Amino acid sequence: MTIKKITPYQILDSRGEPTLQVVMTSDSGKSASFSVPTGASKGKFEAIEKRDGDAPFGGKGVLICLDIINNVISPKFIGYPLDQLQDFDGLLIALDGTKNKENLGSNTLLALSGAYLKLSALENEKPLWQYIAELNKTSPEYPKLFANIVGGGKHAPGLDIQEYMIVPESTSPSVAISTIYDVYHTVQKIMKNLYGPSAMLVGDEGGLAPLGTSSEVILEALSQLNGKMASNFDIALDSAANSFYKDGVYNIENQSIHAAELYKLYQEWNSKFNIFSIEDPFAETDIEGLEILKGMANQEKPFLIIADDYTVTSKIKIDEFQKDGIFDGIIIKPNQVGTFTETFEAISAAKASGAEVVVSHRSGETSDSSIVDLAYGIGAIGIKIGSPARGERVEKYNRLLEIEADLDANQKKAAGSQQAPTGPAPILRDPAPTSQSAPPVSQDMPGAPVSSNNSSPQPVAQFQPPTSPLAQPKAAPTLAI
Ligand code: PGA
Ligand code: ZN
Repeated sequence: MTIKKITPYQILDSRGEPTLQVVMTSDSGKSASFSVPTGASKGKFEAIEKRDGDAPFGGKGVLICLDIINNVISPKFIGYPLDQLQDFDGLLIALDGTKNKENLGSNTLLALSGAYLKLSALENEKPLWQYIAELNKTSPEYPKLFANIVGGGKHAPGLDIQEYMIVPESTSPSVAISTIYDVYHTVQKIMKNLYGPSAMLVGDEGGLAPLGTSSEVILEALSQLNGKMASNFDIALDSAANSFYKDGVYNIENQSIHAAELYKLYQEWNSKFNIFSIEDPFAETDIEGLEILKGMANQEKPFLIIADDYTVTSKIKIDEFQKDGIFDGIIIKPNQVGTFTETFEAISAAKASGAEVVVSHRSGETSDSSIVDLAYGIGAIGIKIGSPARGERVEKYNRLLEIEADLDANQKKAAGSQQAPTGPAPILRDPAPTSQSAPPVSQDMPGAPVSSNNSSPQPVAQFQPPTSPLAQPKAAPTLAI
């Protein structure tokens, strides 16, 4: 099978900004499409996107990528065989010829790499996750969902911390998603009671964006809901601290503080609310913050430290930080590096260093759900796909539900075919995990006995915001137009 046609499109992302989509067609007539996301709180060393720089779309258009694909890429790759991702990506990287992909653009490269990967899976009649697992010799596993409940930072007005997340303990997608649904909607009601209609605002990733609140109020609300849902959950933060760090100081909730004081604040939150993990706790350029992290390297920490802007899905950066064992988890975003081959290399480097892998969307997303197949296929410990709100995020929640339903159906079919024709109804038991089987049926899988704490949550009326002075909600700003 070979590439017959490559068709690039300029489309819009979830913020209404232009982005690139590539549809690749094979000589058998099958086609696959991949569209590229973009970030708002980017790491300094992310690969560079190519954009027009001139009107229309305020210079953010990607017509230049269409030109590159039509005039430089297509003539070279028509007739190129499928199923050779490493070689295909290697040629793209060589054609670009720069370290940061500034020549052809990380968006150009990723759209091509993604469409090629998806088309190769399609030609092999395999789901994308399975094709990825076989390429990487990994065992698929359901990732834990790091679900954004409340947003701030560069994604929403109001709060300085970028993401307040819950991580359901259950790895059954349907149980985890129903937990996220209940927490999201309950927090929304709590926020509406406290702050009125601004609780209906959502940020770029679908996280609630109430005005006039504080971290302690959000964390208190989340911790009060724990134990009342289908699955218990952990609380996680993405500080994205670059976004509130300026001139050597962190400006957070009316305080201007240095790394040591910020770390103290995190410890305080942890002692009150039990924080599971913090992503990018300090700005990547802050030496003092990095020294704090280095001082805790290879030790048990009060909460896991996860790197995003620090490591930017680069094998080189991951190796550099992880030779000192600084991070417990590494965020993986294919568009930070530009090709899937390099993404797989970053994943291997993270795993080899002993860190957990968390695959992530970007704040400017498209309806492409390949990152879900990526996370499941490589057996990532976690995935970030925002809130179950906004179509481009919901698309990814739905892909996870689809994978689960397909695997459950296959499992039932397999159990049924092993059954004696006259025997009792098949009973699903823990199957030996193979690279293609669903995880064992557990108590909190759908259909498992419903526990007493599994009833619909009703804690809205009882919620009392915390009383410490630090936690007092700020007065809601008045509208002055
Ligand atoms: P971004 O943010 O996509 O806006 O860069 C996501 C994150 O920091 O995890
Ligand atoms: Zn982040």
